[in-house]
Amino acid sequence: MAKVGITDTILRDAHQSLVATRMTTEEMLPALHKLDEVGFHSLECWGGATFDACLRFLDEDPWERLRLLRREMPKTKLQMLFRGQNMLGYRHYADDVVKYFVQKSVANGIDIIRIFDALNDIRNLETSIKAARAEEGAHVQVAMSYTVSPVHDIEYFVKYAKELENTGADSICIKDMAGLLTPYATYDLVKALKETIKIPVQVHSHFTAGLADMVLMKAVEAGADVIDTALSPLALGTSHPATESMVAALQGTPYDTGLDLVQLNEVAADFEPLRIKYLESGLLSSKIMKADVNALIYQVPGGMLSNLLSQLKQAGKEDKLDEVLAEVPRVRADAGYPPLVTPSSQIVGTQAVYNVIMGERYKMVTKEFRGLVRGEYGKPPVEIDADFRKQIIGDEEPIDCRPADLLKDELDEMRQKMAQWYEQEEDVLTYAQFGNVAEKFFEKRRNAKYGIDGKHADEAQKVHPV
Ligand code: CO
Repeated sequence: MAKVGITDTILRDAHQSLVATRMTTEEMLPALHKLDEVGFHSLECWGGATFDACLRFLDEDPWERLRLLRREMPKTKLQMLFRGQNMLGYRHYADDVVKYFVQKSVANGIDIIRIFDALNDIRNLETSIKAARAEEGAHVQVAMSYTVSPVHDIEYFVKYAKELENTGADSICIKDMAGLLTPYATYDLVKALKETIKIPVQVHSHFTAGLADMVLMKAVEAGADVIDTALSPLALGTSHPATESMVAALQGTPYDTGLDLVQLNEVAADFEPLRIKYLESGLLSSKIMKADVNALIYQVPGGMLSNLLSQLKQAGKEDKLDEVLAEVPRVRADAGYPPLVTPSSQIVGTQAVYNVIMGERYKMVTKEFRGLVRGEYGKPPVEIDADFRKQIIGDEEPIDCRPADLLKDELDEMRQKMAQWYEQEEDVLTYAQFGNVAEKFFEKRRNAKYGIDGKHADEAQKVHPV
């Protein structure tokens, strides 16, 4: 039997989930050579919120980080998380930008692109799948946003996986961002997938509810080819099962990972000082380290809970967290049961916060929530009630085509707009996604070059949902 592969997430999802994506490239550096020697199936190390966090909080060029990771880890497959037509930003981008981003990601060192759409609307994946397939050596993994709702049953996911296989996916991932998978449900789902599709199946499950190690074990027993874990210093809590523990659990069985525990222990030790540093600075809160079955009740993913808390803190309403958590599933049902993952998690979460702190539901509706209900992000799993839609969007025309079909190519315009900041081709993609934030970064980068203090330094530190 083929060995079970391990994708370690410590350089991306683990710190995104536990410390709001604040691990710097400098903090990663000491461990990179050892990480490269382990023999992981892949290292997830780029994309997701790392791009935004690099620019907004860390004053780092995300492209420079990728090139450095590639240089320091020549042997291991580098993996990124990509939100399809949303790329790494929060809206839909025109096809020319999406294609160019995929091309540049591979050119700068990415091997495996994990692509997903928050709503599982396959139309939102077609351009990036096609673009990634056009890049020599790139592996296209499509992730299905896992969620629980009256429509998200095994049949739904098997059908979706089959469509993805037919569309050109090299492998499928079950992306359980909220930690909703339970061990036996996982077994049945993976089994059904393996019986239906020919491409490998990978499982990504957050430890939030304290079930993910059991989930991975049942997934492996049902035939999963690769599992996502995180080295112990940034494992568990809202992150992933610990790499070392999973490796130990499977050792000497038909599912052996082939990885060496002593070697893993050594590389984990390189991250231990970081864990202590994050705990001492308060970046890593012990609150999110305990098993929390609220995720199973409210279906709120790891990153979202801390964002809700910080939004409530800003409004001085920290005591309203329970009410907001109860409001989230109601808003979600109204919006046609979107899985909660970036950007839908932010959109639904922020609307739930408003519904609670305004004291009246939908008294204030965010632009993004209106967009979601209007169809600007694609088709929700369940048709939205017509009266509710009318209440939210008024006389605006609902959208039922692929949202990006309404977008004209935008790369040339972006190039013109950011011409004064141009230092490398990739800068246009940075600008396309993060506009003002990108400009502040470019300005600081230029000032640093000429030894001038960045005048926008304070503004750039503002808290922003990632
Ligand atoms: Co994740």
